[in-house]
Amino acid sequence: KETRSDTYYTVTAQAGETQFLPGEKTKTWGFGLPFLGKTIIFEKGKSVHINLQNKLSELTTFHWHGLNVSGPIVDGGCHAPVYPAETNKIAFKVDQPAATLWLHAHPCPSTAEQVWKGLAAMVIVKDKAESKLPFPRKYGVDDIPLILQDRKFHAHNQLDYNADYDPDGVQGPTAVINGTVNPYFDVTTQRVRFRILNGANRREWRLHFSDDLQFTQIGSDGGILPEPVAFTHLMLTCAERAEIIVDFGKYHPGDEVTLYTDDVPLVTFKIHEFEPAEVKLPEHLAEIPNPEVTPDTPIHRVVMSGMDEEVMLDGKKFDMQRIDAKQKIGSVELWDIVNTNQKEGGMVHPYHMHGIQFLVVSRNGHAPYPNEHGFKDTVGVNPRETVRLKVWYDKPGVFMYHCHIIEHEDGGMMAQIEAY
Ligand code: C2O
Ligand code: CU
Ligand code: CU
Repeated sequence: KETRSDTYYTVTAQAGETQFLPGEKTKTWGFGLPFLGKTIIFEKGKSVHINLQNKLSELTTFHWHGLNVSGPIVDGGCHAPVYPAETNKIAFKVDQPAATLWLHAHPCPSTAEQVWKGLAAMVIVKDKAESKLPFPRKYGVDDIPLILQDRKFHAHNQLDYNADYDPDGVQGPTAVINGTVNPYFDVTTQRVRFRILNGANRREWRLHFSDDLQFTQIGSDGGILPEPVAFTHLMLTCAERAEIIVDFGKYHPGDEVTLYTDDVPLVTFKIHEFEPAEVKLPEHLAEIPNPEVTPDTPIHRVVMSGMDEEVMLDGKKFDMQRIDAKQKIGSVELWDIVNTNQKEGGMVHPYHMHGIQFLVVSRNGHAPYPNEHGFKDTVGVNPRETVRLKVWYDKPGVFMYHCHIIEHEDGGMMAQIEAY
């Protein structure tokens, strides 16, 4: 049933050319743009109809990472190919709190290459509860997406995925932020909200500002945090999101502030004149449901093992014909996600589940990080660590779960569950 308040979108996967550096352009892909895509904004409670159009020369899929929808066709994982020159239609109701999500290609096993070429975009969900909080929300003025990626540029500024291929994840020495090398941003308000997405295939970002400027995290993958968390340093593993508010109050027109990962500058903020602003946030931001568990609650173990081509989930490689797990709709389970990597400083596997948001219960039996008390769909699992999650489904379907180092996912570190 369609009503007048329904919203309609067309998302087009297309090829184009992008000038990242002075000189020659390089071939890239995007959603309606030559590289990446415009931010898509959904409103909680609305029914949404989307045309998924493929103008590429190979099949792709449109995966709504973090969106609470039924699977597998609307969710857009491997099961939902859109062939060249075809347009598929999906429809769903936006049924989750305000959050920063994303859209990316997900054809198995070429997700990594397609995302690398540019098939990724930010998705924002808005709702009434968030609109009452004293957060900046003028998109493009004081509410800013930051999609963090990295690339290697070969001779004549060319991208070359195959030349850079690494089964442990492709990375490059040049930061590309919102599709731009060395971007700057004009700060015209005292407080700016950044919606940060780690859109890299493999890289972790260890974010901090010049002067060790303090900032406040207000949101994680699946929505607003129960309480604001103040930091000077923030780590994001692949596909994780963080909403932060930065107070530039101590700076003066003409000053510059820099966002870094380790000691690599990512973005320069140029301070302009602004009105002084109220900076106080409430102590309590959002209510996060926390369903009860009992001693009988099932514990579901997922083992992430191996490196390179050897990566596996529960000792197996992904097989689209095999359902690896089942869970009843509404039943709450604990999931223990184990990283068998024993090496200190070894690879962190960012573990992701489609179709839902989960809660992080513990890390090796200890409390999760202070910014892991809200909804998440992706969590970094460190070497020698078991991360316990609380997982429940409210919509039926087959959903994937996997490592979000995208080459690990394509390499088979992935499985699927049927919610019924
Ligand atoms: Cu971000 Cu299987 O996805
Ligand atoms: Cu996903
Ligand atoms: Cu991994």
